[in-house]
Amino acid sequence: MIEFNNVDARLEGRLIELYKSHQERAKNIDWSYHDFIPWGQARCFKETPWHESQRTLPPAIYTAIETALLTEVNLPWFTTHLNVTFKGSLEVLKDFIHTWVSEEDQHSSLLETYLIVTRNANPHELRKLRKQVVELGYENEFPEPVQVMAYTAIQELATMVYYNNVAKVAQNYDRDLATLLRRLAKDESLHYAFYRDAVKAHLELDANYILPVSYVLQHFGMPGRDMPNFEERMKVIGQEANYGPEQYFLQVVDVLVEFWGVRNLTPSHPEAEAARTSMLKHHDRLKRITERATRKKTNV
Ligand SMILES: [Fe+2]
Ligand SMILES: [Fe+2]
Repeated sequence: MIEFNNVDARLEGRLIELYKSHQERAKNIDWSYHDFIPWGQARCFKETPWHESQRTLPPAIYTAIETALLTEVNLPWFTTHLNVTFKGSLEVLKDFIHTWVSEEDQHSSLLETYLIVTRNANPHELRKLRKQVVELGYENEFPEPVQVMAYTAIQELATMVYYNNVAKVAQNYDRDLATLLRRLAKDESLHYAFYRDAVKAHLELDANYILPVSYVLQHFGMPGRDMPNFEERMKVIGQEANYGPEQYFLQVVDVLVEFWGVRNLTPSHPEAEAARTSMLKHHDRLKRITERATRKKTNV
């Protein structure tokens, strides 16, 4: 059986190519994130204290933005996790993580500034919550490098879809917010492409890598799931902000199972073949649940 604990040195050339293509695509990105904030709405909190009546977003959209912000704020812990996982591994992974952190670093501050300037957030509550979430930190149960790559691919795609889907609903209330969310989705799509292709490279090198990848897909949970009221938040967002289990299946799981060519992989190890079969069963089960939910909605 192949060794899962280290990144296979034979993948170095391909990973360097992926990193270069990321740099190429990210080169023209303008990091002037302040352009996305409606500064004209800013007022001094000492002169005009915050009041609930100043909120302009519907509660579900607010919850969706706050939830995204409280996920992005744990970047220090995500970085720690990636650093530990790839310690002593290929240099290119260290380089990519540095670039990735520098790009992710601006996401939480953009969302937070937006919520505070537009007075949708109670600044005292939001700051308190932010501290609480960062203090909780982040752990994940996937120790192997290829698992972390698979996890991050799923997470980046889910985040990209989330921003784009919420933007579709948000634009009816606030065009600036929709533009801002679509901008964030662009960063996430580049991160997603790197990790997605890195996993694909593993599977092309040796189809037995499906064993650790299958486990991740079947045990995936969003990185923000430890924040207060996560389940309630996701329920509201699923019902009113365009990102729930159906979107997760159709726009994330289904897309990756297809892209990684899981149906056509032929691992040599029986354990890996069993993992591949169980991943497909998991996919088909989510598909049936999604179809049932869609039928129920269209029949109402
Ligand atoms: Fe992000
Ligand atoms: Fe990202």
